[in-house]
Amino acid sequence: MRNVYIKGTGSYAPANIVKNDFFEKVGSSDEWIFERLGIRERRISTGETTSDLGYKAGLLAIENAGLTVNDIDLLIVATATPDRQAPSCACFIQEKLEAFNTVAFDVAAVCSGALFTISVGVQYIKSGMYNNVLVIGADTFSNITDWSRRDSVFFGDGAGAMVLSHTEEDKGFLDFVLHSDGRGKEHFTIPGGGSENPANQETIDKRQHYFQMNGQEVFNTAIDVVPKSINEILAKNNFSIDQIDYMLPHQPSIKILQEIARRVNMPFEKVKTNMDRYANTSGGTIPILLDELHRSDTFKPNDMLLFAAVGAGWTWGTALYRW
Ligand SMILES: CC(C)(COP(=O)(O)OP(=O)(O)OC[C@H]1O[C@@H](n2cnc3c(N)ncnc32)[C@H](O)[C@@H]1OP(=O)(O)O)[C@@H](O)C(=O)NCCC(=O)NCCS
Repeated sequence: MRNVYIKGTGSYAPANIVKNDFFEKVGSSDEWIFERLGIRERRISTGETTSDLGYKAGLLAIENAGLTVNDIDLLIVATATPDRQAPSCACFIQEKLEAFNTVAFDVAAVCSGALFTISVGVQYIKSGMYNNVLVIGADTFSNITDWSRRDSVFFGDGAGAMVLSHTEEDKGFLDFVLHSDGRGKEHFTIPGGGSENPANQETIDKRQHYFQMNGQEVFNTAIDVVPKSINEILAKNNFSIDQIDYMLPHQPSIKILQEIARRVNMPFEKVKTNMDRYANTSGGTIPILLDELHRSDTFKPNDMLLFAAVGAGWTWGTALYRW
């Protein structure tokens, strides 16, 4: 089996910044949002689609890897907010990239989307079927947010990307631990517009095309399942938490991440965050964070990285990576 590593990264978010005081009109406040969620501001699209964001992030990742679009064999996009229900967002991005040698498809795992998509890309390279895989996590939750409600504070728009390639060196992805549990499906959902409840005047009047979230259930589930999957991957690979240099988690809220770190005995300085500037960009969080850290030369050879995600479904998991 071949070793698979991150050859290049990129990210892109819309220029439009929305600060917390914007939400005073729905009964929220900067103090409430920052204290619980760790968010100061987020980027909100003013017309750019999910594929526009993903395309820009993807192009930057290809350039950063020192490749051209013709080198990409496979393009996989993690998104819960594709430009259209059909075809896939990956096909939209493929067209924009003019990467017509690639196979392109989406993966749906909402906030765990990037991690699940990376795991798919890694398997294709390990098996020898493909050499260079472009993984993009891109979302514009602004399109599924009811801006008249208080829970409009949680999300922002953005995209991150990475090129995965094989290497002879002793580095890259060591392992993944992934889980899903569909019994949690009601706790974060968009009830209208699918085959169960096709779009009609009633679904629109009932505002069922916006996300519905049970914040308490998300919180309690995240702080339970993520520490368990971190401990699972560490035990499976004979690692202790002290051997991990950085955790790159999904960015739901600072309180969730602080509690996860406490439960696995990791000093919070090792947990990387950027939700203060982007909020939760769903599929975008881990690849955007990775790109920022990569471009600021945070990692040195042999650093151990732990990726961790949790999202609607439920879906959750972890990955171990040697830089
Ligand atoms: C949403 C969340 C912060 C609520 O925390 P909590 O303190 O348990 O929340 P409660 O529902 O008990 O509300 C606490 C208070 O904040 C208020 N509140 C809730 N949402 C608010 C908002 N957006 N702005 C201001 N106040 C808000 C409540 O009315 C309540 O006020 P009260 O004490 O006067 O009654 C927490 O459950 C959470 O972080 N959940 C995870 C959400 C998430 O990460 N989603 C992303 C999906 S991956």
